[in-house]
Amino acid sequence: MHTQVGIIGAGPAGLLLGHLLHLKGIDSVILESRSREYVIDRVRAGVLEQFTADLMTEMGVGARLQREGMRHDGVFLSFAGRRHYVPLAELTGGKAIYVYGQNEVVKDLIEARVATGRPLHFEVEDVSVYDIDSTSPRVRYAANGKQEELTCDFIAGCDGFHGICRPTIEKAARFYDKTYPFGWLGILAEAAPSSEALVYTYHECGFSLFSMRSPKITRLYFQVPPDEDINQWPDEAIWDEMLKRMTTHDGWKPNVGAILNKGVTAMRSFVTEPMSAGRLYLAGDAAHIVPPTGAKGLNLAAFDVLHLGRAIAAFYSSGKTDLLDQYSDTALKRVWRAQRFSWWMTQTLHRFPDENPFDYKRQLTDLDYIVSSRAALTSLAENYVGLPVDAAL
Ligand code: FAD
Ligand code: PHB
Repeated sequence: MHTQVGIIGAGPAGLLLGHLLHLKGIDSVILESRSREYVIDRVRAGVLEQFTADLMTEMGVGARLQREGMRHDGVFLSFAGRRHYVPLAELTGGKAIYVYGQNEVVKDLIEARVATGRPLHFEVEDVSVYDIDSTSPRVRYAANGKQEELTCDFIAGCDGFHGICRPTIEKAARFYDKTYPFGWLGILAEAAPSSEALVYTYHECGFSLFSMRSPKITRLYFQVPPDEDINQWPDEAIWDEMLKRMTTHDGWKPNVGAILNKGVTAMRSFVTEPMSAGRLYLAGDAAHIVPPTGAKGLNLAAFDVLHLGRAIAAFYSSGKTDLLDQYSDTALKRVWRAQRFSWWMTQTLHRFPDENPFDYKRQLTDLDYIVSSRAALTSLAENYVGLPVDAAL
């Protein structure tokens, strides 16, 4: 079997790339190790930058996002018992963020892929890549108990942080890594959101975040040790901790409801340089991970594949490889900006185990400075909504 682009992974990166290539008339085969249901049900990102929302709309896969996604013109920073509104749109010339679950994004993209009739194979096994330094790299995998081989012009490694593509370029790449001494315990609750905007809280007991998925579903997180066992947290204890950290002096707090889903996520910053080797190009979490505090991971994946798709299309239309050669540098520039911002948001809003009372007061003062300075708020806002991109397809 031959295809122009072999795409490994049907997360946001792989599915968006497949659709971008489809719009340019370029063939691809998408291979995914999990089932369709698993990929759709996985609870992860909730916040899309203006750029990502616009990209989905431009690609013709944004109709439900436009209807059901919730545009947010600001977020709250909360500390010392008070919430402070950050007017994102006002500070950034009208840019906003959109609350639309990653599972909805993935669902829309799978539907669009299926409608194109182009191949998307779930539950494939033993995926491996070969001959990436040649002009016809190959992917081997097993499907329905049968060994398959796909020859490609290019391979896109969109297989997330635990995929097989990054390890195959280990010798040619350098890795930059930082782990954090905490993780997030996250829940989905059957409760109407009690605030129209997200609330990022810095509390003596640690970070917490109020978010949502729909007018009926609230999404909440709080900081825990990185190896926390979710089984140690009965629902009642989770609510006690959420309410302790989030309730403000004016009485604002999240609405309580049945917990539909709960889990713990570790936090990490990670970058692969370069993001390509031979004809294998990494995109999204396969190449880089950010702690979720800045809500950047999915958005970076979208930026990567926009540029990778453009570079591949330029190769087929002109035979030139200059955009492909520049892909890694172009993507890494934005990746490092997002890394810096995500690290900054994380260290500004979390409590570290080795802190003393001086650190706590300094951090509160830092937050107080941010909310009282238009310059500091503007810097936060322009990073949070996403730095400008040349987003034309
Ligand atoms: P993935 O979504 O990981 O997709 C990779 C796919 O490859 C998976 O489906 C996987 O099953 C498949 N795969 C793996 N190995 C193989 C293999 N060997 N063969 C075939 N397929 C394989 N980002 C934001 O922008 N905004 C947010 O608000 C936000 N919130 C987050 C909250 C949490 C709690 C977490 C954990 C993450 C959050 N993120 C957020 C980050 C975001 O979820 C990721 O950055 C995003 O999923 C990256 O997409 P991806 O397609 O690169 O990788
Ligand atoms: C979410 O809604 O899941 C969410 C929102 C903001 C973040 C991270 C996750 O920074």
